[in-house]
Amino acid sequence: MEQNKKMAAAPSQTILFIILLHIFYIFVPSHQYHPLDSLTPSEFSQIRSIVTKAYPESSTHKLTFQYVGLEEPSKQTVISWLKNETTTNPPRQAFVIARIDHQTHELIVDLSLQEIASKRIYSGYGYPMFTFEDQENADKLAFTYPPFVASIRRRGLKLEEVVCESFSVGWYGAEEEEGKNKKRIVKVMCYYMNGTVNLFMRPIEGISMTVDLDEMKIIGFQDRVTVPVPKADETEFRESKIKPPFRQSLKAITVVQPDGPSFTIDGHMIRWADWEFHLSFDVRAGMIISLASIYDLEKQQSRRVLYKGHVSEMFVPYMDLTEEWQRRTFFDAGEYGYGLCSMTLEPLRDCPPNAVFMDAYFAKQDGMSRKIPKAFCIFERYAGDIMWRHTEATIPGKTVREVRQDVSLVVRTVSTFGNYDYVNDWEFKQSGSIKVTVGLTGMVQVRGTTYTHKDHMEEDVYGTLVAENSIAIHHDHFLTYRLDLDVDGDANSFVKSKLRTTRVNDRRSSRKSYWTVDSKTAKTESDARIKLGSEPAELLFVNPNKKTKMGNLIGYRLIPEGVTGALLSSDDHPQIRAAFTNYNVWVTAYNKSEKWAGGLYADQSHGDDTLAVWSNRNRSIENKDIVLWYTLGFHHVPYQEDFPVMPTLNGGFELRPSNFFESNPVLKVKQPKEEYSP
Ligand code: MN
Ligand code: CU
Repeated sequence: MEQNKKMAAAPSQTILFIILLHIFYIFVPSHQYHPLDSLTPSEFSQIRSIVTKAYPESSTHKLTFQYVGLEEPSKQTVISWLKNETTTNPPRQAFVIARIDHQTHELIVDLSLQEIASKRIYSGYGYPMFTFEDQENADKLAFTYPPFVASIRRRGLKLEEVVCESFSVGWYGAEEEEGKNKKRIVKVMCYYMNGTVNLFMRPIEGISMTVDLDEMKIIGFQDRVTVPVPKADETEFRESKIKPPFRQSLKAITVVQPDGPSFTIDGHMIRWADWEFHLSFDVRAGMIISLASIYDLEKQQSRRVLYKGHVSEMFVPYMDLTEEWQRRTFFDAGEYGYGLCSMTLEPLRDCPPNAVFMDAYFAKQDGMSRKIPKAFCIFERYAGDIMWRHTEATIPGKTVREVRQDVSLVVRTVSTFGNYDYVNDWEFKQSGSIKVTVGLTGMVQVRGTTYTHKDHMEEDVYGTLVAENSIAIHHDHFLTYRLDLDVDGDANSFVKSKLRTTRVNDRRSSRKSYWTVDSKTAKTESDARIKLGSEPAELLFVNPNKKTKMGNLIGYRLIPEGVTGALLSSDDHPQIRAAFTNYNVWVTAYNKSEKWAGGLYADQSHGDDTLAVWSNRNRSIENKDIVLWYTLGFHHVPYQEDFPVMPTLNGGFELRPSNFFESNPVLKVKQPKEEYSP
């Protein structure tokens, strides 16, 4: 805390300014209603009363809200509203997934008419997202369940130091369901604190419970093996509890904007440099960036780049075949909610001192809204990088040097799924690039073991011994982004340009080889499935109806940063469900209902509603409104440095203008008016 105060005291004027700015944003209502704005607390309560009126709760009627989000108006409606072609606001609607009497109900609630506009009962495979209450209530059951209490006592552990967690169970083929009622279930497994808060480093192996979420009761219990609980020593990560010696601290460092930030926030619209975009929140997707457009100085107009972009699904399969581990193949967005797991950001630590924060809201299981304070931070980043430069040293007797600072705008959230923290950045660059980065940090999942040294290990332990009795298990993280690019209009094509080595066989050159670019426009969805890494290629979204003055197609390209592909066999059940990770790149025809790459109902899904299935329709994607799906990934082989908390590991991609502008769009960027040097 001392440290924190010192840091806060240094740039006091800036802090005061930020506080004032923050108050301003809270108390001044937005000037303009926007059809893509997230649902507000008052809308959540209206939705709740409309739904509970239609489905009154009683001893026989149990109603839970599993998902409540904006049912967004059609693209045409939004675009004509933006152009002021319509005088009336589009109807405000919400999409609700509720569990009513053990059935999944899909409701469209019309807030303008204050009624349920449509309803249907879903009877296919899979279940909606867990609520917090689903998980909290399931985790509590163990403590009053006599066999569990007995197992804890037998291990000599104190019940009050035990913490339990709910794990999704996936799906492992038809055999397991024969003769059984299909149920919405989770596995509950537990950890031991007793001297640390880093409970994920202290698994109580061998005990697992199956909980029926609709009945909210334990329907299965196993106490299979007893394995030592790893020690609490050295697992602490709180500065106040870590034993000295500490590393020498660095001198204070900060970011100062003496004239305040250069961006404005109007409701949910953010404007900075030549960019403008809409920022919203969804309990499943987390951060959503919509209507990102950049002002073109030469054309004197704002040009759309991205209609909408967000995380569509995240797949995290573990590679451990032991009983309590083999089902750990998480679909974090569809099961746990990328937005539901959004955490409050800590000023000065999670975000720099010049950041502005925004809150987010979601509906709890009872339909009432809950606030996530400071769920977003927005800040200008200057990390000492160079946007462009040149020293012209060739002119005799003269040196010309011209340099521009690279200042960008970042929107950040952090989602914490139990053990893991994901830092999500959308960065807008003055050059027209959008960079998306995800940073992995937090705790790796460890399995308790009898081993205390690598030399004693005789079997495949499925991971790395990171501390005594602690094996950090091999796993993957795949993040699939849905990117509805609309490059200078919604009619786009996808062009794959392969770089191909060409042999020179004649005498026209002293060279024996060079490379050329083979561009091919994808006609249908099957032409646009790409596993990256096998050959160099440029991946472009172009507007085939618009050309630069030079005659090149207007475009944006995807630049992946590192490439990771699926390693599980395609007939393995987790991979059938996660078939959207079979390729790094897919392009589909725009369809409003195709949002979630693993299907609308990801929990216990059978893989019959994935991006791979939609792509199999093989629709035409040439000169159409199309959507880019990009999967980035990490094969995570843990190392000892990941213990007891993992230093951030980053991955990401860039969307970069490619013949979108006539020339370098940042040539005419002036340096900030005053060079500020403390
Ligand atoms: Mn599009
Ligand atoms: Cu990992």
